[in-house]
Amino acid sequence: MKPSQLLLVILSILVASGVCREQYKIVIVGAGAAGIATATKLLENGIDDILVLEAESRIGGRINTVNFHGCNVDLGAEWVGGEVNNVVYETLKDRNLLYLLTRDVFPEKFYLSSRQMISEKLSKELFDAVFAAFDINTGTGPHNSTGSVIQQRYRENIIKKFKAGDGDMDIFIWAEDFLRHFFLFAKGSFSWYDNAYTSDHETCPGYQNYGWKNHGYGKFLDVLIRKYPNPSRQLPFFEKLLVDKEVTKITVNDDHIVINCSDNSHYKANHVVFTTSIGVLKENHKKLFSPKLPIYKQLAIERIGIGAVIKVFLKYEHEWWGNSSGFNFIWTEKDRISSRTEFPEGPENKYGQSWITEIYNVIVIPNSRILLVVFTGEMIPVIEKLDDQIVTNGIKFTLKKFLGHLYKIMEPQTMIRSNWYHNPHFRGTYSFSSINSTGEDVKNLMAPIKNAEGCPIILFAGEATSPLHHSSAHGAVESGFREAERLINIYKN
Ligand SMILES: Cc1cc2nc3c(=O)[nH]c(=O)nc-3n(C[C@H](O)[C@H](O)[C@H](O)COP(=O)(O)OP(=O)(O)OC[C@H]3O[C@@H](n4cnc5c(N)ncnc54)[C@H](O)[C@@H]3O)c2cc1C
Ligand SMILES: *[C@@H]1O[C@H](CO)[C@@H](O)[C@H](O)[C@H]1NC(C)=O
Ligand SMILES: *[C@@H]1O[C@H](CO)[C@@H](O)[C@H](O)[C@H]1NC(C)=O
Ligand SMILES: *[C@@H]1O[C@H](CO)[C@@H](O)[C@H](O)[C@H]1NC(C)=O
Ligand SMILES: *[C@@H]1O[C@H](CO)[C@@H](O)[C@H](O)[C@H]1NC(C)=O
Repeated sequence: MKPSQLLLVILSILVASGVCREQYKIVIVGAGAAGIATATKLLENGIDDILVLEAESRIGGRINTVNFHGCNVDLGAEWVGGEVNNVVYETLKDRNLLYLLTRDVFPEKFYLSSRQMISEKLSKELFDAVFAAFDINTGTGPHNSTGSVIQQRYRENIIKKFKAGDGDMDIFIWAEDFLRHFFLFAKGSFSWYDNAYTSDHETCPGYQNYGWKNHGYGKFLDVLIRKYPNPSRQLPFFEKLLVDKEVTKITVNDDHIVINCSDNSHYKANHVVFTTSIGVLKENHKKLFSPKLPIYKQLAIERIGIGAVIKVFLKYEHEWWGNSSGFNFIWTEKDRISSRTEFPEGPENKYGQSWITEIYNVIVIPNSRILLVVFTGEMIPVIEKLDDQIVTNGIKFTLKKFLGHLYKIMEPQTMIRSNWYHNPHFRGTYSFSSINSTGEDVKNLMAPIKNAEGCPIILFAGEATSPLHHSSAHGAVESGFREAERLINIYKN
């Protein structure tokens, strides 16, 4: 075959497969939970003139289950929280894929960097104090930071509890940093002073901590695509998908929308459903959309918050931690100050303390030889940039410091970690209600852009557009279903 003939054959295959179409009804930007939910809902309703463009070479976005030496670990979403109004839980509840964690995701026991023992009773009191302060459903008015409210409540409770000079009081004072970490893990902001005290966010009622039996969150995507439980009934999702397609420009013309990608390809559509994180929008919206997004939407993008956490999974030869479910750490004032001289590798925080003082707990992944360490807070950007070896050394040093007298701490065999903040296709982990935003901003972010006839042409999905469940995987799925329904209604009428 001559090269020109070959080219013709390839082209005709592409046209036949629907990849090289003139104009699609709907182009979906992003194949995370929201994009997949949109696509599958459309396919289920007989709308199959669609194309999904995904910048990464894999689907799932912030759901990313990876096989880590024979064990499924989640670099992104991991737990299903709540039952009622939780579309993920409702889809899965009769499928025997989830199990209820018998404890909180966080372990119960606290340890001090000074190695002074903390009794079980005191551990419990500490956790109770943390939870009592964490209850964010009662209190003052809007635009107050959750950090300041929680901090004040925590301090007031300590003062009520102790007379000055009590030995345990110091431990409670130091544990405020643990409380902050606990909060930042839930909210993903860099500082707890960035979070709005009041928001429309709703915790789904019911049990909050479901894990996956021998799977990871990625299994849910198989359920959406109907690859599971019966692969022969799978929706033709993968036939509509192109990966390694980074969308760089969305241009609205009179009768169609042009979508340009970084590989110089372009696609045309009647509607675009845009599903990337708000981190991607913050960074790119001005150059992505032509014409520029309306001001109300630009403001929403600026105001709604997103920060990041880092998950580090470490695999060991043995479970040196015995039957423990994990460890919570409290740094003493003295050990914070000496942390930099004791462990000089890597950066320091704004107080001149080592980055390892950002290690607050270790979670045991059940039935594996794996530990999870979660970093939070304003050092995330620099910690993400550290060499694997320094991260491993820092964690090992910290484990020895807190637990070396109780356990024989081993060298991990290997580690894997996330880099959501620096990845240009995410720029953060999950959105949060910022001191600068209100529920109105979420509604403005979600509102579709309409043409002169009032027909929605650019639609917005993704976790940050979920008024009640933003920041969660179920919020993302819900938003995808919502925008698919919007389009289905247009085509029905
Ligand atoms: C570390 C971590 C832990 C989490 N833990 C939980 C948890 O335990 N429980 C829970 O419910 N939720 C959790 N979440 C939140 C949950 O993962 C997200 O809310 C949800 O997965 C977001 O889905 P999405 O579709 O809105 O966005 P994304 O998953 O970000 O999907 C958007 C897609 O768009 C793609 N994209 C970006 N830019 C472009 C472009 N220019 N062109 C084309 N494609 C592009 C991205 O690659 C991505 O695939 C966690 C998230 C993280 C990161
Ligand atoms: C913010 O919260 C703090 C701490 O509870 C309180 O002292 C302050 O009055 C609050 N401010 C507003 C504007 O609500
Ligand atoms: C809130 O807005 C102020 C002023 O624009 C800005 O400096 C600050 O960084 C914003 N905070 C957050 C959490 O977005
Ligand atoms: C998008 O692609 C079309 C077709 O290749 C091209 O004419 C147009 O200039 C591109 N737009 C941008 C902004 O790159
Ligand atoms: C864990 O192990 C310790 C000592 O090895 C034992 O005393 C304790 O009862 C065990 N706890 C559980 C929950 O199995």
